[in-house]
This record gives sequence, C-alpha cells and structure tokens, in this order.
Amino acid sequence: MLKSVRALFFCTLGLTFCAALSAHADEPIVIKFSHVVADNTPKGQGALLFKQLVEQRLEGKVKVEVYPSATLYGDANELDALRNNDVQMLAPSLAKFEQYTKQLQVFDLPFLFDDLEAVNRFQKRAKGRQLLRSMEDHNIVGLGYWHNGMKQLSATRALRVPGDAKGLSFRIQPSTVLEAQFSQVGASTQKLPFSEVFNALKSGQVQGAENPWSNIYSKKLHEVQPFISETNHGVLDYMLVSNSRFWYSIPHHIRTELEGIIDEVTYAVNKQAEADNQADRQHIIDSGRSQIISLTPEQRQAWRDAMQPVWAQFEEQIGKDVLKAAQTVNRKHRE
Ligand code: SIN
Repeated sequence: MLKSVRALFFCTLGLTFCAALSAHADEPIVIKFSHVVADNTPKGQGALLFKQLVEQRLEGKVKVEVYPSATLYGDANELDALRNNDVQMLAPSLAKFEQYTKQLQVFDLPFLFDDLEAVNRFQKRAKGRQLLRSMEDHNIVGLGYWHNGMKQLSATRALRVPGDAKGLSFRIQPSTVLEAQFSQVGASTQKLPFSEVFNALKSGQVQGAENPWSNIYSKKLHEVQPFISETNHGVLDYMLVSNSRFWYSIPHHIRTELEGIIDEVTYAVNKQAEADNQADRQHIIDSGRSQIISLTPEQRQAWRDAMQPVWAQFEEQIGKDVLKAAQTVNRKHRE
C-alpha cells in the first residue's frame, strides 16, 4: 500500500518516467545489465557480483538480469537501448561514448597514463568524477569507473618500432582519437564491434588490434594474432552507466542501497583487474599460440614519440582543464 502511494507520488510529481516503479508496485524493479565481453573478464565478473549482492540484499525488491557477450545488445545498439530504457545498466568502454561527450576521449589518448594506478588516480579526482556527469543531457548517468587494463598491440607481424605498423589495418573501437593514433604510424583502421573482432582478424579483414590481456585471452584473439607487443600504450576502462530517468525514479532508499553495492563492486573489480590481466598474459604465453614481444625502453619511447602528437589534435575538444588534470596523475609528471 505504502509502495503504491509512493509510486503515485513520484508519478504525480511530474516525474513522468515511472519505469522503475512497476505497474504492480509489489513487483521487483528489474535491472537488465547487458555487456559485450565474456563472464571471465573484469567487467563480466563485476556484473555477476553486482547481481549477487543486489539479490542478497534487496531480495524481492530488485532483480538483476546479466546478458554477457553481446547476447542481448552489442556495441552498435546498446547505448540506444539504454537511452530507451530497454536495458537499465551497461559498462561500455570509455572509447564508446564519443557521440555523447568529447571529454571522455581523454582516456583514449596514447601514452597519457603511465599505468592503471595513474588512471585510477585521475578517475578519483574531481575532474574524473565530473566526467561521470558529462552525459546527463543524453539521459545517461555515470555510476562509477571499472578497470579493465592497459592495451597491447597485436598483429600478424612483429611490431617493435612504429614503422613496423605501416600499411597494416587495425580494428579499433568507435573513437576518432584511436583512428588518429594509428594514422600517426602509417596504419589504417576499421571501426568494428567487439563481437566481430575475432572473425575480422581470422579472415584477414584487419591484421591487427589493440586490447588488454583479458579481452585477448577470453576471446581467443591470441590464436589469430601470432605477435603481441607489450606496449601498454593506452587504457581500456569502462563507465558503469544507467538511464538517468530510470535511475532517479528508483525510490531513494533502494537507490542508496544500490549505490552502496556499486561502490563495493567497483572496489572489488578495480582491485582484481590488473591481477586478472596478468594471469591472462601468462595463459597466452602458456598456450604457445602467440609470441609476446617486450619492447626496450628506446623502442617504447619511439612509439610514444610517434603517437603523442595526437594529444594536441584533441586538446580543444577534450578541454584543456581535463587534459591538464590527467597529465598530473603520473608519478613522473610530464607536459
Ligand atoms: C569491452 O571490453 O567492453 C570491449 C572493448 C572493445 O570493443 O574493444
């Protein structure tokens, strides 16, 4: 009865979006959580932990359905589905929000963050937190950042210096920064959904890619890429997002509980992600299917010198303040 009155109160307040309050207020709120990677990845594990904790603590009030590996929506349509409230939670890679905000492109800049700890520091500081709110005009609210890890370059030939990439075509996420990054080393790019990467590499449609170890191993990309260069040249992290109208229509006491669970899951995912990536790196070595190439400091510096001009190209649209804040998080601060 009380719930029905509250539901009516929310709806008559002018909050016309009452999807969180089901037609029968005694029925649980359903959160469909769709993503494009396998269960055995940092994001896949995070989604399952979120489901487990919500169902333990909010039993009967909230139900979570997890759809991994693009089984419900893929890269091409998941953000539209979220904005239409066909799904209520996603964690797309930060490279996939470009059409809603240019500011998040800061995460795609090559060689900006030295390591995942630096990324973590930026995400926790005021500028990083502000970016969680950068898409609210598009009905997308950021609930937290989840790590995957640093990206490695893989290809059909050994990539030691930038010139080795010349003439190859790389699969990229839908990001103009990533397009520019590869163009700096004379390579072309194709923007393809994650679910198509394995086949595109296998068929030779593209000859290279950039991924963290967990995505390479869980999607068997090392079986179709004979060489992986350990470049750590950029980051692939996620923003956990919901439909703003859906999220703010959840009754306050339930939303507060959900936010607490999200903080807990975020902590767990971010604590574990690097270890998972290192374990998958070792699995790839053990498989013997792909040769891992370690770069000398001079070789890595050559990649950095070749790609870093991209920062200046995107500084204006990302925002000087955002870029500046990101530049201060490395242990050895670089301009
Ligand atoms: C993901 O980790 O969600 C996929 C990233 C990609 O498209 O490469």
